[in-house]
Amino acid sequence: MGDWWRTGVVYQIYPRSYADSNGDGIGDLAGIVAHLDHLAGRPDSLGVDAIWLSPFYPSPDYDFGYDVADYVGVDPKFGTVADFERLVDACHRRGLKVVIDLVLNHSSAAHPWFEASHASRTGPFADWFIWRDSPGRSLMGGRRRPNNWRSFFGGPAWAWDDARGQFYLHTFLPQQPDLNWRNPEVREALLGVVRTWLDRGVDGFRLDVFNTYFKDAGLRSNPWRLGGRGAWSWQRHVYDRDQPELHPLLDELRAIVDERPGRMTVGELFDGTLVDAAPLIAPRHLVFDWSLITVPWSAAAFKRAITARDAAFGPGRWPANVLSNHDQPRAASRLAPPGRDAAAIAEGDARAKVAATLLLTMRGTAFLYYGEEVALRNLSIPNAEAVDPPARRASFLFPWWNRDQARGPMPWSAGPGAGFSTGRPWLPLAADAARRNVDVEAADSASVLSVYRQLLGLRRASPALGDGDQDLVDQADADVLAYVRTAGDGAAFVALNFASRPAPVSLPAGPAGAGWRVRLSTTGRALAQDVSERATLAPLEALVATA
Ligand code: GLC
Ligand code: CA
Repeated sequence: MGDWWRTGVVYQIYPRSYADSNGDGIGDLAGIVAHLDHLAGRPDSLGVDAIWLSPFYPSPDYDFGYDVADYVGVDPKFGTVADFERLVDACHRRGLKVVIDLVLNHSSAAHPWFEASHASRTGPFADWFIWRDSPGRSLMGGRRRPNNWRSFFGGPAWAWDDARGQFYLHTFLPQQPDLNWRNPEVREALLGVVRTWLDRGVDGFRLDVFNTYFKDAGLRSNPWRLGGRGAWSWQRHVYDRDQPELHPLLDELRAIVDERPGRMTVGELFDGTLVDAAPLIAPRHLVFDWSLITVPWSAAAFKRAITARDAAFGPGRWPANVLSNHDQPRAASRLAPPGRDAAAIAEGDARAKVAATLLLTMRGTAFLYYGEEVALRNLSIPNAEAVDPPARRASFLFPWWNRDQARGPMPWSAGPGAGFSTGRPWLPLAADAARRNVDVEAADSASVLSVYRQLLGLRRASPALGDGDQDLVDQADADVLAYVRTAGDGAAFVALNFASRPAPVSLPAGPAGAGWRVRLSTTGRALAQDVSERATLAPLEALVATA
């Protein structure tokens, strides 16, 4: 079998929302440790290979941890560095790797580096962030900004600082000033952060918005473009991200990580396309390219997304597959049919099983977002009650979706607080938490959770699913997506029926003429059944057969 970060499945935990051990309503590291059985180490565990933790560093929480005030600390609301080390130990004892989130494009404005930087134009930290004078006054009398760049979280990307009498750059919130990666001291300090966490035993890093670390050296204004929703899309982002200086930095960072064999990195592509993503993929370095995370419920649309990515990446680059994360609507909601009645919910769950099959059998490393394994839906939170900071800044010029909806507490059991907390959870529990939770689904062999467990088991046992090549198999029925995975003389055939009616599927010949044997069906088809040439899929059936 190949490397864990290729064949494996990485489970993303949003620490605030996973499990609260002390009743303050906020998930914490000890809560995660208490729930590791769910993830790995027991026969009835999900069986994932790694966890990725969203930030747990000290933070004033303007962006819920993605504004870091100390890169090597743990926020007291999540625990201590010793708790983190306990978590790493507990994970490693069950064969689970630990990937952490590094937010190195920007710090928090409360980071001591920024406090020193804004206090003095001449002090030792003066050049650690991106400061510029105002080029003068506009006709209306306001201070002109250094260029036309916009913040991804609404408004201009420049904030005025009275103390320095200068503007500083913030690609995200004004409380998230961009670090100056062109300053060798900054580079050294941030690479030191990488070393510190490697020393603490982590197995990999998720690099937040890594393709925007470097900006154009001359800070030139972006060219304007027509169209799109919101002011961000009215520019071509040629100068505020994707600069050539990123490549040597990634090489240097990878060399540090490679001093410990078996470590991986995954970069979060910020606002880019497949064409931007492809050159940033490297050995042991994956890139989230977002091919799948906005695809609607349609076999044809998934097929187009897979084909486009194959064309951009070629056979050499290994993809990262993601259907949900903490920034996007939950897959189970995005892919569900309209309506909230029992029939629509059941159909939504059947679709979630098909989506799970796709995620866990496609070529590439699979990333699973906490709650996805029980088909957790978006919370419904009115915009007026949003706590997600960009959602609170939303306007006509800045349309934004409320990310709170994808960050709800994990439903563990039917008990009080859904087993998440004995206190008042920081976001409300899902309305269906008494029915849709880990305990209830674990006891039901036909649940979404049981399908995830079976799929993970199958993936682990099959080199073809873990590491194999992938070829789409054309189908006469437009609602069927099918592909074959092959590695050596092993092969797996996957067929997904996106329609709520039976659908024909044609199977290719197995390797060396062997027949196909059913290993998994999301609609209860008998296992070990032989299928060949032609079969009929049940409504919303996903089927995996091996040869
Ligand atoms: C990434 C994170 C997102 C955060 C942003 C700024 O996109 O996934 O949650 O708000 O970066 O750090
Ligand atoms: Ca807590």
